[in-house]
Amino acid sequence: MIVVKSPAELDAMREANRVVARVLQAVEAEAGPGIATARLDAMAEEICRSLGARPGFKGYHGYPYSLCCSPNQQVVHGFPSTTPLAEGDILSLDFGAVLDGFYGDAATTVAVGQISEAARRLLEATEAALTAGIEECRPGRHLGDVSAAVQRVAEGAGFSVVRQFVGHGIGRNLHEEPQVPNFGAPGRGVVLKPGMVLAIEPMVNAGGYAVEILDDGWTAVTADGKLSAHFEHTVAVTDDGPRILSLP
Ligand code: MF3
Ligand code: CO
Repeated sequence: MIVVKSPAELDAMREANRVVARVLQAVEAEAGPGIATARLDAMAEEICRSLGARPGFKGYHGYPYSLCCSPNQQVVHGFPSTTPLAEGDILSLDFGAVLDGFYGDAATTVAVGQISEAARRLLEATEAALTAGIEECRPGRHLGDVSAAVQRVAEGAGFSVVRQFVGHGIGRNLHEEPQVPNFGAPGRGVVLKPGMVLAIEPMVNAGGYAVEILDDGWTAVTADGKLSAHFEHTVAVTDDGPRILSLP
């Protein structure tokens, strides 16, 4: 069953997601050559708690950290590490927070110093795919319209969308119905209604869409070792159109 949130609940979700956005803004500013992602994880948890929220991922199905840090060929759910970032890396940062019983969830991929033109294009296409998906979050549209829009932009730029991980409904739980695939057919799936809240999160690979999970049980990497990017927003469907909750 898809939970429809009241206006008051949407306002509460906005506050949880504001925390997420502020954390991501801070760690994004800190990420650079020579910085270890373990330090970004520590920062994220500290800022989150200072804003009165708690990290949403730590302990979730046993995930051991607050911030998912997935450099280069890592797709999602990477572990923070003491290895310093290097010039030319790309780094996906995914953070969740819980405030007053509601989850927020968002992700971004950042450039570490100067990156290659190919990497830059991957980041831009992935963010554009997210934007296209968000644009479909309107009453009367089908879930498949969201999925198809994401896929069209990512594949139109010459990249592939990951199949094995999907976006999701979000609210009092991190993962609620419906699943939000990053591929699909327009006009299919549930009809969107005001008060539905979706975490839309394209994971886009420079090569093929296949992924593998490392022996840590969490870290997803591209099977072909090529780069992957990830952008995510938590978005409410409203009568006035899409409302992105995870902005600072
Ligand atoms: N944004 C990701 C998701 O919705 C992050 C989850 S990390 C986890 O699946 F540790 F909480 F699983
Ligand atoms: Co998510």
